[in-house]
Amino acid sequence: MSDDTKPDTSPIQSRIEDGVETFEATIQGERIQWDDGLTYSRHLQTDRLLNSQAPVSDKPDEMLFIIMHQTMELWIKLMLHEVRVAIDALRVDDLDRAGKTLDRIATIMRHMIHSWEVLATLTPHDFLTFRGYLRKASGFQSQQYRELEFLLGLKRADLILVHNGNDAAIAALTDTLGAPSLYDEVLRVLSRKGAAIPEEKLTRDWSQPYQPCDAVERAWHDIYAAPDQNWALYALGEKVTALEYYFQEWRFKHMKTVARVIGHKHGTGGSSGVSYLVKALDLQFFPELWSMRTRMSAPKEGGDYSGGDRL
Ligand code: HEM
Repeated sequence: MSDDTKPDTSPIQSRIEDGVETFEATIQGERIQWDDGLTYSRHLQTDRLLNSQAPVSDKPDEMLFIIMHQTMELWIKLMLHEVRVAIDALRVDDLDRAGKTLDRIATIMRHMIHSWEVLATLTPHDFLTFRGYLRKASGFQSQQYRELEFLLGLKRADLILVHNGNDAAIAALTDTLGAPSLYDEVLRVLSRKGAAIPEEKLTRDWSQPYQPCDAVERAWHDIYAAPDQNWALYALGEKVTALEYYFQEWRFKHMKTVARVIGHKHGTGGSSGVSYLVKALDLQFFPELWSMRTRMSAPKEGGDYSGGDRL
């Protein structure tokens, strides 16, 4: 019998669909299909992704350390993307779209906070088996983390110094430093919607640290004192506040995990370690959204506010 007369006994059938070779087979009772146009691994670059873990030691616990950092870097990448989407929406006063995006960022943050639990299974002994191999490598040098801080509103130019020699990193960080942050854009929305935001907050040298001021605190206070009349801005204020709330919780869990693993030793990046991380708990992206809360007082009957700082 010649080859062309042999019955096709292959479990995989193939055909051309939209000019692309398409395959089908019955697997576990399901009619499974795939094609050459795009595969899972090509779309998600799984070969590159799963070959990007390069331990510098032969110690088994280093893999956890690497994958924890890499997954966090991926989530930070998504947050940077989403914050930029939110900023674009704010620029055209699309507060619904911005709000939806801010909610997604907050959910990513909550997920990241929970994930510290996995790293907390790394005991001091586990870490010390490979700590020496890490030399001076540290999260302090995370380009994306700094970019996220800049993008949210914390502008500290000297942190770019550790990227000396990496021109691409310096260019990206300098760009983000010099552009309006999420908070700057939120204040511009407030101003366009009629809040009394001082001109120097709307057009300034964005690369400079934001200086909190009484007028912005008052503007937020007025919005929060009359939520029914200012619902869109009130909701925006709460969504932005949530981001800072969760960011600080991330910082706190990092600090606590570090204390659990290395105690009060210095970090691989040279800082004082836990003491340095504790100081970071006082950093703020949206200062007046926090200070305004102290200024608030209980509404009088009928929803009127008396002002002052009575409870
Ligand atoms: C056992 C695990 C970890 C230890 C012992 C550790 C330790 C430290 C220490 C001591 C610092 C201060 C800078 C220094 O002197 O090195 C630091 C900073 C930092 N770490 Fe970690 N870390 C760990 C895990 C992680 C993970 C999983 C991430 C996720 C990306 C991360 C991200 C960062 C970032 C972004 C900073 C800079 C924080 C800032 O400047 O405010 N760390 N870490």
